[in-house]
Amino acid sequence: MTKLLELQGVSKTYGKNTVALSEINFSVNEGEFVSVIGPSGAGKSTLLRCINRMIDSTSGEINFDGQAVQKLNKKALRQFRTKIGMIFQHYNLVDRLTVFENVLHGRLGYKSTLAGAFGFYTDEEKRQALELLSILGLESQVYKRCDQLSGGQKQRVGIARALVQKPKLLLCDEPIASLDPNASKVIMDYLQTICKSMGITVMVNLHQVDVALKYSDRVIGISKGEVVYQGDPRFMKEEEIHHIYGSEAGELIFNLSEESHYVG
Ligand SMILES: Nc1ncnc2c1ncn2[C@@H]1O[C@H](COP(=O)(O)OP(=O)(O)O)[C@@H](O)[C@H]1O
Ligand SMILES: [Mg+2]
Repeated sequence: MTKLLELQGVSKTYGKNTVALSEINFSVNEGEFVSVIGPSGAGKSTLLRCINRMIDSTSGEINFDGQAVQKLNKKALRQFRTKIGMIFQHYNLVDRLTVFENVLHGRLGYKSTLAGAFGFYTDEEKRQALELLSILGLESQVYKRCDQLSGGQKQRVGIARALVQKPKLLLCDEPIASLDPNASKVIMDYLQTICKSMGITVMVNLHQVDVALKYSDRVIGISKGEVVYQGDPRFMKEEEIHHIYGSEAGELIFNLSEESHYVG
């Protein structure tokens, strides 16, 4: 197994005393589907943002694809960012633009500012954007404005925009938190396909334990900025879920024992 990502003693403090991450250690192998679970405020978003350097960690080391992430200069950082796609809870699309234009934005990291500003895309880039939209079941939405789409469709546009970048790693920050159960399942199934058929490593922040257990090769549990669990979801015990979620856990475990949409 090839290691794609490794974090060693990574900490992040906002301002003077908000410790969001404290001495985080873990690694992710190529092709793995990893979920990060934990209550609100645990540090999940901070963790993903440190990995792709949307924000700078305070200390520790992050290694991605053989590169020391925190040491990249401006030019290397641009190139590095093309290798990591990201999708968000609120999609982060440009609503007044078309689906097609939003997806092509995924290519901006490869272009000069000028070419990007004028919307110069090659025929090959356009072909790839259309192919991804078709894989994601959006062929009839290509020329629609994004504000006319449902949440589930918007998230699929977000996925297509991330994939057109040809990333090695896809980071997903609460990708289903704004979606109903049916749309959530569609999105999670696509993420699984992207990982297992396209070979792209997927790391997803989730609030829902049942979803994490169903889809992941490995679960990383964080609580108050610390990794408190790492392992195969099949062997995860109730008390470990309790440990991650603290007082929120009762309700979550109750949901798990219900006829869940995801489990089974
Ligand atoms: N930009 C920021 N400035 C200051 N504090 C922040 C910022 N972003 C997050 N935090 C704090 O860091 C901690 C972790 O937040 P976050 O990474 O958003 O957690 P999660 O995604 O698990 O809900 C929380 O205490 C939060 O209030
Ligand atoms: Mg978050």
